[in-house]
Amino acid sequence: MKLLTPLIAASLAGASLMHAAESSITSKSFGTTTNGVKVELYTLTNEKGASASISSYGGIVTKLLIPDRSGKFDDVVLGFDKLSSYEKKSPYFGALIGRYGNRIAKGKFSLDGETYTLATNNNGQSLHGGIKGFDKVVWQATPVVTKQGPSLKLTYTSKDGEEGYPGTLSVTATYTLTNKNELKLVYTATTDKDTIVNLTHHSYFNLAGQGNGDILGHLLTLKSGKYTPIDKVLITTGELTPVKGTPFDFRKATVIGDRINQENEQLKFAGGYDHNWVASKLPGHLGVVAKVEEPKSGRVMEVLSTEPGVQFYSGNFLDGTLVGKEGKVYPFRSGFCLEPQHYPDSPNHPNFPSVELKPGQTYKNTIIYRFSTKS
Ligand code: GLA
Repeated sequence: MKLLTPLIAASLAGASLMHAAESSITSKSFGTTTNGVKVELYTLTNEKGASASISSYGGIVTKLLIPDRSGKFDDVVLGFDKLSSYEKKSPYFGALIGRYGNRIAKGKFSLDGETYTLATNNNGQSLHGGIKGFDKVVWQATPVVTKQGPSLKLTYTSKDGEEGYPGTLSVTATYTLTNKNELKLVYTATTDKDTIVNLTHHSYFNLAGQGNGDILGHLLTLKSGKYTPIDKVLITTGELTPVKGTPFDFRKATVIGDRINQENEQLKFAGGYDHNWVASKLPGHLGVVAKVEEPKSGRVMEVLSTEPGVQFYSGNFLDGTLVGKEGKVYPFRSGFCLEPQHYPDSPNHPNFPSVELKPGQTYKNTIIYRFSTKS
């Protein structure tokens, strides 16, 4: 293992050595892809001792160690021990998603009067960037220590026509584990031709610790009065539907499992929650879109974002067949995702906020997963 940055000595004045605070970035080999590309695994450790491991393959957060109310660290994200498992079959565990997070109906959209056909990989639809999305490419990684905490800058240039998308897209994703126990993700992108873009993050969280049962007892708050319903192939219908009086109303903290098995067409289509909520905040402004609390560990996670929507997915496709880290298995609904993003299938719904990016413009998206505890 290589230590890439000098340890930053923190102020120890008045503090016990047990809390000696230092932040660091280390790297080690995560193996070689089946195409022979070397992959590195970086570990960012902040002054509080929390750490995030990130793979240059797929920008994947493979491990996230966060303290509970008694100060005990647990890994709160699902994932694999080996690169080959991510390459073989991963339901986007911890991944950087692009060029377009979520589904585009039949993989088709038009822009400037031209129709584009994307790679389809999900029941005839295009999901999360297509067959070889940003979760399956190797990113250039540069570690940097910032004032906020240790950080990793990932860059990738997606060629014009990759997975069917127009324009050469130059993407930067900067992951910082701040000294306030926040995992902060900042994405920027530029293009040389009119195109569409919608980047997001796909960690499966279990605030009781990965492999520690299902997430149905977690309490969820979604600051949204509306959501975007889907059809039976999980494609957004284009409507914005009030959550009031439905199992989609999470405006007050509610246990995830409370209503998930209710008789409801939307829940039936997705096998649980797998929907986009319309964020109640000013567009483009960073604000809280979701909050999750796990009563036993006391861990709390707030999600802040600049994006107009957030996908809440209750891990309905997990079925216990994947063997995860430390041999843990991941049963039905044993992890949840909160993916801040633009609404699904936006290019085909002119009433949704635009996802177009033109030459000269810079796409920017900030997502923060902020951890704390509650007694
Ligand atoms: C997203 C989708 C889900 C599912 C998962 C991956 O969150 O919305 O339907 O495809 O990714 O399994």
